[in-house]
Amino acid sequence: MQIALLCDVPRFLPAVAQAVHETFWLTDPEASVERAEMRLSQRLNANSLPFTLVAHDHGALLGTGSVVVNEVSEDTVQSAWLSGVWVDESHRGKGIGTAVVDACCEHARRLGEPSLLLMTADEREFYERRGWTVIDALAAPTVVMKRSLRTPS
Ligand SMILES: CC(C)(COP(=O)(O)OP(=O)(O)OC[C@H]1O[C@@H](n2cnc3c(N)ncnc32)[C@H](O)[C@@H]1OP(=O)(O)O)[C@@H](O)C(=O)NCCC(=O)NCCS
Repeated sequence: MQIALLCDVPRFLPAVAQAVHETFWLTDPEASVERAEMRLSQRLNANSLPFTLVAHDHGALLGTGSVVVNEVSEDTVQSAWLSGVWVDESHRGKGIGTAVVDACCEHARRLGEPSLLLMTADEREFYERRGWTVIDALAAPTVVMKRSLRTPS
């Protein structure tokens, strides 16, 4: 398995768009695979945020994850968020999700980000076991979690 920047393997963009659309964006009535492709095409960066990573093997997409920027307007704080972490169902439980999260953290750290945030409803324990801490509770069970990037993953 390899983990690569989507900008280096753009042939995976349609498959990533299909996966994240079906997994995360279906509840949005405006969502479509085309919109997902458009959002992902804005993440074809290597040296700046936002970026997307893909885990692949022998031409098959195994997983993905992104780091995106969210500007909090009230205090103009700019934060980097881990987003759209997904592993193909038939490949879960083999460490691919952990590897994708670690690779996203490591690349964001190299780009100078001091920490990452994420929002999750179902995977709180998955992230807690990987060093993330809950910093805010939203409508249960959704929480905001944070991981420092001061030391390498
Ligand atoms: C969350 C997700 C990315 C994890 O990917 P993964 O490749 O299964 O992750 P890993 O193999 O590194 O770790 C999975 C954990 O579940 C356990 N597990 C075992 N069998 C498993 C299976 N068949 N499926 C999922 N997890 C399994 C693993 O042992 C591991 O436990 P641990 O936390 O005690 O180490 C994946 O389940 C997924 O894509 N879920 C749907 C999308 C989603 O919810 N994303 C997160 C949004 S915040």
